[in-house]
Order: sequence, then structure tokens, then C-alpha cells
Amino acid sequence: MKDHRADAIRRLADAGIDNPRLDGRLLWDASQRNPGIFESFVKRRLAHEPIAYIVGYKEFWSLEFIVEPGVLIPRPATETIIEQVFDRYADIGAPLKILDLGTGSGCLLTALLKEYPNARGLGIDESEKALSVAARNIERNGVQTRAEIKRGNWMENLDCGWDVIVSNPPYIPTGDIPGLDPDVRDYEPLAALDGGPDGLDAVRALAAGFRRLLKGTAFVEIGIGQAESAQILMADAGLSVHHIAADLAGIPRVVVTGP
Ligand SMILES: C[S@@+](CC[C@H](N)C(=O)[O-])C[C@H]1O[C@@H](n2cnc3c(N)ncnc32)[C@H](O)[C@@H]1O
Repeated sequence: MKDHRADAIRRLADAGIDNPRLDGRLLWDASQRNPGIFESFVKRRLAHEPIAYIVGYKEFWSLEFIVEPGVLIPRPATETIIEQVFDRYADIGAPLKILDLGTGSGCLLTALLKEYPNARGLGIDESEKALSVAARNIERNGVQTRAEIKRGNWMENLDCGWDVIVSNPPYIPTGDIPGLDPDVRDYEPLAALDGGPDGLDAVRALAAGFRRLLKGTAFVEIGIGQAESAQILMADAGLSVHHIAADLAGIPRVVVTGP
């Protein structure tokens, strides 16, 4: 059986898949309850389907999240949002009211509710598929008594007075989508990626809503090269930008803003 794994790693490498050894091992481990499925897993990966969709989960903030086609796979850079919330809200016992806009798999909302045991939160997404996966992740990680999720368009029809608003909105300029890696372009949901002509459509919508609904601090993920424009958009909406935090690769990644 070990030969099957070595053979799969060679085929993944020959097909130009990044990290063939790691992927081969993850697929192998995930197929152990049903070894007959290994070859179909390898074929899916050879077609560039992301590992997380094949094995059905992804780790984020050391928690496990179910992921399925139709839901964005959580990214390590998004953990920068959680770190920034910690920086500004050091009291983990605080009864924060947290709003997660574009909750997707529910990773941000779930991780924050795990870290702040007295907080309550609401996750919003326009995608029914995302909401059904978020509901399962919230339950799986044991925060269901403090979390609510709702279908919606950003902040439309929401109450005001949020202590913390987090969002990782779609921010890829429409024209850049065809040039994305096939793993992303051909598999992850367009509605989670496409940020309009300059990638900032969602940031514009969020900035307008923060002014009305935010009591404390908002943390918004942005794409490469968007820091200056995002800062101007927040300022134009009458908000103060406290800080733009870099991710572990040193890329300006999270706008920290408030009234
Ligand atoms: C980049 S994904 C982020 C998912 C998750 N928060 C994460 O960080 O992995 C953006 C999410 O925003 C949702 N979305 C896009 N447009 C929206 C809108 N107008 N209102 C609410 N959610 C929206 C998408 O369905 C997607 O789940």
C-alpha cells in the first residue's frame, strides 16, 4: 500500500501540484477508513481540486472546519483578524457583541466565540450553502448557544451597537479572476472572490454601514495593494483608521477602523 502512496506523490509532482509529498500524505491519511477511495482522491487532486474539499475539512485557528464546494476554504492570512481583535480586546471575559459579515464557513465567528466565552455573535452571508456549512461548524465547535447566522446582504436590516465587526469580504478585482491558480479559480465560489472592477465593492459597502452600526472596532481583510484605497474609503465614510495590520508574510492585510 505504501507503494500506492509513493506512486501518487510522483504523479502529483509530475503534474506540477505544489507540495506533492504533503498532499499525498493528507490524501492517504484521509482515505484510511476506506482505502479504496485513495485513487479517486488522487485523481481529484490531479485535476487541481483543493485538498480541503477532497478531505472535507480545513484547520483555522487550531480548530477544525468542515468545508465543501460552494464555501471558501479558510486561509491562514485571515487569522490576522483574530490576532488584531486580541490586540484591541485583551479582556477575554468581555461580553462582546460580534458581527461577522460574509461568514462563509463560519471560521471567524466560531474562533472568536471560542476565545471570548462571554461573547455573542451573528454571522451574515448571502449564500445559503455557506450558511448551512457555518451552522454545522458552529455546532461542531460547541458555540451554538451564543451564535446566530442569517442570510443577508452585508449590513442591510441589522441593528446597531456592535462592539466588534469582522469581515473577510470578496476583494479580488474581476479582471484578475481568470489569472488565479486553477485550484482557486475553478473550484472556490466566485461570490467569495470577486470584489468588482477594483476589488473594493464590498469594502465600500462595509465602510458605509460601519458608520451606522459600529460602536467599537471593525477589522476588515483586504487584498494585496489595497491598503491605501481602503484607508481612503474608510476616511471618506467618516471613520478613523487606527491601524493596518500585516499578515505573517508582511502584506498589509487587515484594516482596523472605528467611528
Ligand atoms: C472571502 S469569503 C470569506 C468567508 C469566511 N469569512 C472566511 O474568512 O473564510 C466572503 C464571503 O462573503 C459572502 N458574500 C459575498 N457577497 C455578500 C453580500 N453582499 N452579503 C453578505 N455576504 C456576502 C460570500 O458568500 C462569502 O462567503
